[in-house]
Amino acid sequence: MSEDARRQERIPVLQMVVVGLIASALGIAAGLSIDWFPERASTQAGPIDHLYDVLIWSSVPVFVLVAIIVLFSVWKFRMRPGEERLDGPPIHGNTRLEVIWTAIPAIVLVALCSYAWVVLTDIEAAQPDEMRINVTGQQFAWTFEYPQADGKPVKSNQLYLAENQPVRFFVKALDVIHDFWVPAFRMKVDAVPGIETKYRVTPNRLGTYPVVCAELCGLGHSVMRSSAHVVTPAAFKAWLAERKAPAGGGGSGGDGKPDGKALFTDGNGTATACGSCHTLADAGTTSTTGPDLDKELAGKDASFIRDSIVKPDDEITPGFQSGIMPKNYGDTLSPDELDALVTYVGKVAGK
Ligand code: CUA
Repeated sequence: MSEDARRQERIPVLQMVVVGLIASALGIAAGLSIDWFPERASTQAGPIDHLYDVLIWSSVPVFVLVAIIVLFSVWKFRMRPGEERLDGPPIHGNTRLEVIWTAIPAIVLVALCSYAWVVLTDIEAAQPDEMRINVTGQQFAWTFEYPQADGKPVKSNQLYLAENQPVRFFVKALDVIHDFWVPAFRMKVDAVPGIETKYRVTPNRLGTYPVVCAELCGLGHSVMRSSAHVVTPAAFKAWLAERKAPAGGGGSGGDGKPDGKALFTDGNGTATACGSCHTLADAGTTSTTGPDLDKELAGKDASFIRDSIVKPDDEITPGFQSGIMPKNYGDTLSPDELDALVTYVGKVAGK
């Protein structure tokens, strides 16, 4: 009996199958027990999570099979002392084996793709009474635009949605490729300059969820974040009405002047809060993503502060990069809000 035949004879197929079954069961149990995703906040999230579980069920055994054969072969057919110069027997292929290992993965793949296609088609089916929201990505901010009957859209840096109101997002990019993603909704799509991409979501859980840019788009990629607020239909209506009402006037809900400090720490419902990137002792914020305003704006006049907000790239603090601070605060803050912010920062910076 040749050396090669002798070794083949001893392949412990039964033991490998038993080990494989146990390892697959453990792998599947581990895969399913891990909490991969955040809470589900849309009708699309359930089917996506289920799809993911099915993929775990079907891919873990494949991984285990490949890993066991590789590990077994490394051990069984390793080079022993005295075999350094031996070449293995020539291999001329095995048609039956090749047909089997091509056909089985092909069948598994086609089945999984068909299932995924059915799920994705189903969750993206058109809904009655869809609301359109235009999403624009730019370095490094999101703008959400709500078309209105009077032709004057409501713009916001924060995403507001009504619970159970189907939404269709129309996504654009102004500069480079971004990716509009709300993990709690599970859906995402690239924002690509020159084309419009779309997807549908029906938020079904009240709460505030992160909006993330999921495509590396430059130095500010990691701060290109916002929040999706899923509110009751009544609260959504009120928010929309409030954003519409000022028509170039204040953003404080109509009574008196906007509060500069509140704008700095909380934003205004459409614009992101300055304090999420900047340090300012009076506001109690300590982030170092952008320049320390106590250092950089102390003693500066109002027009310098205003330009720093509206045209952030005209003058860059040494040690920081241009193009990271969003350039659209001139749009998303009302004139009154901008005044309030400039006055507040001018008064407290460095104090
Ligand atoms: Cu925009 Cu990453």
